[in-house]
Amino acid sequence: MKIRAAIIPAAGIGTRFLPLTKAIPKEMIPLIDKPTIQHVVEEAIDAHLSDLFIVIGNNKQAIVDYFSSPYEHADLLKEKDKKRLKETLENRIAKATIRYLAQPKPLGLGHAILMARTVIEPNSYFSVLLPDDILVGTEPAIGTMAQLAKQNNAAVIAVQEIPQEKISAYGVISIAEQLNHDLYEVSCLVEKPKKENAPSNLAIVGRYILPHKIIAILDSMQGNSGELQLTDAIQKLIETGEKVLAYKIPHKRFDTGTPHGWLEAIGHFGLNDLR
Ligand code: UTP
Repeated sequence: MKIRAAIIPAAGIGTRFLPLTKAIPKEMIPLIDKPTIQHVVEEAIDAHLSDLFIVIGNNKQAIVDYFSSPYEHADLLKEKDKKRLKETLENRIAKATIRYLAQPKPLGLGHAILMARTVIEPNSYFSVLLPDDILVGTEPAIGTMAQLAKQNNAAVIAVQEIPQEKISAYGVISIAEQLNHDLYEVSCLVEKPKKENAPSNLAIVGRYILPHKIIAILDSMQGNSGELQLTDAIQKLIETGEKVLAYKIPHKRFDTGTPHGWLEAIGHFGLNDLR
């Protein structure tokens, strides 16, 4: 089984960065020299995912322009700057194709993934990377997860240990069985539990390897009130008998979807640059 497709949902409203996100997509907010979305695009490409699909809404043209336009005044750049530009963006991106899928309204993460219904091959697995979650480590997390999915013929979600006092902000897994030090079989998912009811301290991080079957599940959930949630669809996937594994990532994670997480990421990348 080959996993080629990477879905990168980037059509959300970005409420937590309003009013800036009126004009600038949240995914284009910079971490020093790169917009956040470039980090997940690079992670996908480094994991040899060749078909990238970025889900965008109406005011997200800046993302398309960023990845497709040549640099405006490249002729005026010094040789060393031209080299840096090529290394940081063009060369890496040339290894994959990036296409765009429209989500007419931000009706939830599950709905954003449903926009990929025509591009996911039947009977295949595909990956999802949320551009808010920046993972820093030696290996691309999504690559390790794709390997695990192939070896186990299972869906894989990334998880991270979270202190109890913060757990109610996350989707949390309930463990059916611990398979080894960083791999678990999931029995169910609980969205934003009260800290005293959390079934574990393992919270879901924005990386997923999912089977094509999840598309039909999401489709059947459309029309329910509220946002179409991916966590609910994965819960239904477990109920159909599909094996869902959780991989505890060894990476440092920055949740750049919040001003606090964004500031931490800036600190990390900025200080690394100074070293
Ligand atoms: P978030 O839950 O962080 O939502 O989405 P958001 O709109 O970006 O930000 P807030 O919560 O309003 O501050 C996680 C990822 O899923 C995408 C977002 O663009 C983000 O990358 N998303 C979310 C979609 O593509 N479509 C949606 O309908 C919702």
